[in-house]
Amino acid sequence: MFAKVESQSNGIDLIKIDNEETKIVFTNYGARIVSWKFDDNNIVLGNVVEADEFYTENPFNFGATIGRYGGRIANATFQLDGKTYQLDSNNGQHNIHGGPHGLDTQFFDYEVEEQVGQVKIIFKTTIKSSVDHFPGDIDLEVIHTYDVDHKWTIEYKAIATEKTIFNPMNHVYFNLNRDNKVIDNHSIASSKLDMYLLNEDNIVQSLEPVDLVNKFNSENIQFKDIFNSEDSVIKEQMDRFGGIDHPFDLGSNEMTVENKHFLLKVKTDMPNIVIFTFNDTTSWQSDFNIYKAHSGFTLETQCIPNDINLLGDKAPSILEGNKPYYSKTSYKIFEK
Ligand code: BGC
Repeated sequence: MFAKVESQSNGIDLIKIDNEETKIVFTNYGARIVSWKFDDNNIVLGNVVEADEFYTENPFNFGATIGRYGGRIANATFQLDGKTYQLDSNNGQHNIHGGPHGLDTQFFDYEVEEQVGQVKIIFKTTIKSSVDHFPGDIDLEVIHTYDVDHKWTIEYKAIATEKTIFNPMNHVYFNLNRDNKVIDNHSIASSKLDMYLLNEDNIVQSLEPVDLVNKFNSENIQFKDIFNSEDSVIKEQMDRFGGIDHPFDLGSNEMTVENKHFLLKVKTDMPNIVIFTFNDTTSWQSDFNIYKAHSGFTLETQCIPNDINLLGDKAPSILEGNKPYYSKTSYKIFEK
């Protein structure tokens, strides 16, 4: 197992890790994953060859570290300890993914450590309150580790100068099909698949989720069965969004996604996962946009978006000042 660094233009470095049948590539731009291959099969969506142009234009946050806050904050405002904070609106009147200068647009410093059986890339940056208008500056490390068992682990280590909200995640899109056709044939599995319903602005409307395991009478459900469900509640949501864009509670904080050829196992210590099935790809006018709806799906391990407005001072995303933050998510790929 070894790593090598290649520089492209626009300040973009590619860190390429070779583990024989699997290969994975990261970049300093947004501390993102660019590529993950099992033999010739692309497991994730991305562009290695033209990374220097592709990622600065891509509006879908491919592979990026998202923060300081993943998902939407309703009306771009929230209160913390009685003080109201006004953020930038970059999704209608809402704030999404930390705002227009979120972590996905930042160049990170990094170090590569080759160890026995694994390679670690330690990405570092500082999130500034003066830039994103959340309270407090945050010193952040995003550590991507790849190991011989084809497991990619992401760790977030952070410390804030004052009490704030912090909800980082990774926005990788997977597609386990050999031909990279739509992901409708993949199935998701967990002992609990509780889906939170959204209002017309993609914001959680109720903290009473729908129990999909119960509705489908199965712990293993194909995306297409959810997309085509005749259940009135699920159908109304699928008609509105063209697919899934919903937070879930999982059983034991883990789930698998599989097709005929591969199985992907996700484990996290975050309370929720947002599954987004790339429902509308038309907003990007570019030759780079070769994607159609359902070309991929994300597994965004995070706190429920907008938790600060839904749960107030009980929101899990609240981070106290000077108190170390740590979270960890891993994705492991198996060939069947
Ligand atoms: C959101 C989607 C959004 C996508 C692209 C996802 O996390 O849930 O609504 O379109 O990110 O940024």
